[in-house]
Amino acid sequence: MKILQIIKENTRRKLVDWSRKKLSLNTVIDQLFLDLQIQQLLPNNIEALDLFARNGLWLSKDYENKVNYLELCEIDKFYHNWSKKAIKANSYNLGDSIKMLSQNQLKKEKYNFILSDNFSGKFGPYTEHFEVFDYVFKYIDNGIIAFNVVPNTITRVKYYPENETDYNDWLVKRSQFYNLNKNEVENIGIKKLGQIYENIITNKGYSVKYFNHLVRNDVVTLFYFVIEKAS
Ligand SMILES: C[S@@+](CC[C@H](N)C(=O)[O-])C[C@H]1O[C@@H](n2cnc3c(N)ncnc32)[C@H](O)[C@@H]1O
Repeated sequence: MKILQIIKENTRRKLVDWSRKKLSLNTVIDQLFLDLQIQQLLPNNIEALDLFARNGLWLSKDYENKVNYLELCEIDKFYHNWSKKAIKANSYNLGDSIKMLSQNQLKKEKYNFILSDNFSGKFGPYTEHFEVFDYVFKYIDNGIIAFNVVPNTITRVKYYPENETDYNDWLVKRSQFYNLNKNEVENIGIKKLGQIYENIITNKGYSVKYFNHLVRNDVVTLFYFVIEKAS
């Protein structure tokens, strides 16, 4: 099974790379970098932290050549080992990236590009990027923070069903994180989410220089903020 997966994902990646080169395909990450380049908001020297890297073939591969330093984190040993072969990075951390954030186990003290390609719901003891937000700001002064957001949980559970208890728990976590009533968090508009995140980030002591989002599919939207620590 694993060998089939390796063949399938490596082939898909080769097709994506060929299309990027020959057909000017822009992946979501290509679009993010292009947008920030046009806005003149890309740092000159990009030091990137990729918190949920998997094998890196979905997103990390898209930007490995656009950054000066790349550190990957992945909890699954199989994917971690695969990423070592697939992705050109400076550091490959095996383990729980949220623990790495909270226990200062990362290689650098600061980064200026942090990507949280987190799951679209609950995973282990965590929910979406909510716990990442508890710790990640310690690692960034000026730069870009990008993370997956789920505007509509009802669409999400159509693809990946949850039992009633887990679904209810997820909604409670969303209600706490977004500071909204539980009956408001199943479907939150992008505009409202943008404002909520801007408030959260401002309350953490940053000014927001830029915000944009890229819809990845009907479940997950990538939000990205260019932030600057208030002096
Ligand atoms: C959506 S995938 C990320 C895909 C990846 N960004 C790429 O470009 O291929 C999420 C990954 O997070 C990993 N993961 C789950 N919990 C984790 C944790 N606490 N710390 C680090 N990685 C974790 C999973 O094993 C999975 O490979």
